[in-house]
Amino acid sequence: MVTFVPTSVAFLFGRSIVIEVQLDDAIQRIDEVVSEALRDIQAAATTSEVEQVRVRYTGKKSPFQQVLSIMGRLSAEDRKQLGAAWNAARDSIEAALKQRDASLRSGELAQRLESEQVDITLPGVPQPVGYRHPLLQCVRDLLQILEQMGYAIYEGPEVEWERYNFDLLNTPCWHPARDEQDTFWVREGVVLRTQTSPAQVRYMEAHAPPIRVAVPGFTYRNEAEDPTHADMFYQIEGLAVDVDITLADLKGTLLQVAKRYFGPDSALRFRPHYFPFTEPSAEIDIQCRVCHGVGCRSCDGEGWLELGGSGMVHPSVLEAGGYDPEAVSGFAFGLGPNRYSMMKYGIPDMRLFRENDLRFLREFN
Ligand code: DAH
Repeated sequence: MVTFVPTSVAFLFGRSIVIEVQLDDAIQRIDEVVSEALRDIQAAATTSEVEQVRVRYTGKKSPFQQVLSIMGRLSAEDRKQLGAAWNAARDSIEAALKQRDASLRSGELAQRLESEQVDITLPGVPQPVGYRHPLLQCVRDLLQILEQMGYAIYEGPEVEWERYNFDLLNTPCWHPARDEQDTFWVREGVVLRTQTSPAQVRYMEAHAPPIRVAVPGFTYRNEAEDPTHADMFYQIEGLAVDVDITLADLKGTLLQVAKRYFGPDSALRFRPHYFPFTEPSAEIDIQCRVCHGVGCRSCDGEGWLELGGSGMVHPSVLEAGGYDPEAVSGFAFGLGPNRYSMMKYGIPDMRLFRENDLRFLREFN
């Protein structure tokens, strides 16, 4: 520890003697601080401790500053000596700091590499992969087939005017066919669409013939559910209007779609039916692929299952769409993807589509 000679005492000795003593003391003091610093540097266990040591010995409050404060009172010669001693001290401290920092840094890196190591041989955590619902898969497949046959895709609203859902489809309020479609009324004049057919008139209003369009979407009926009926189910409407379209075009189209979807050997039949918006009308059936025609609960004991309704567009519907029934003709159909999907995959009960039972859905992975 250095004791500086107080100025008042120094005057008693005369200026030159005091300075002599101060220079020697200061240089000795510098040596002492250097060895303290080197000790502290070696003792630093982390790079941040090294940083603390750096601040302690090179910052504004370092012990060197106190020693250097006598500089102004030294002769030029002595000042040089003290300066050289200080430079050497600083160089050795800085070199030691640098060296200690580098060695700790590489140790810390090695430690981090060790602790953060990823074992790439560990088995991964399996991420469940999603897949399409069998009903929507069926809709996509059917739409793809229709697109390949030149159909555009169009969508109508699920909440629909009574006018589009019934009146413009040749089904005025007194028509008995309305009773067959147990309707959810939203309010007077507004329904949850019971069919995708209202999109026929909407599309004709907006597009001039010739047209070929497919309209997928959910439809709603206020009726009890059973294996082959649901109160919310999918439909794909089809509409083709051009000159000279005939019933043969309709039959060919429906059989072609079904054969492309189910395969060329599927047993299909095309039989007469009645719909207010088509004349003549027909339905397409497939032989039940669950019981192979014997009769089971999936086909209501019939051996055959209806896949959709169809017919030649009624002149009054063409007129409602703004077309001239004398100039053009057309056919329309409404496919039931729920039933296409049931028959394709052997699904016995339509209600399974909406139960969201993962064991069921995973079978279609
Ligand atoms: N909309 C009818 C239904 O839901 C199905 C239908 C029949 C659609 C004949 C048509 C058609 O386009 O021409 O029962």
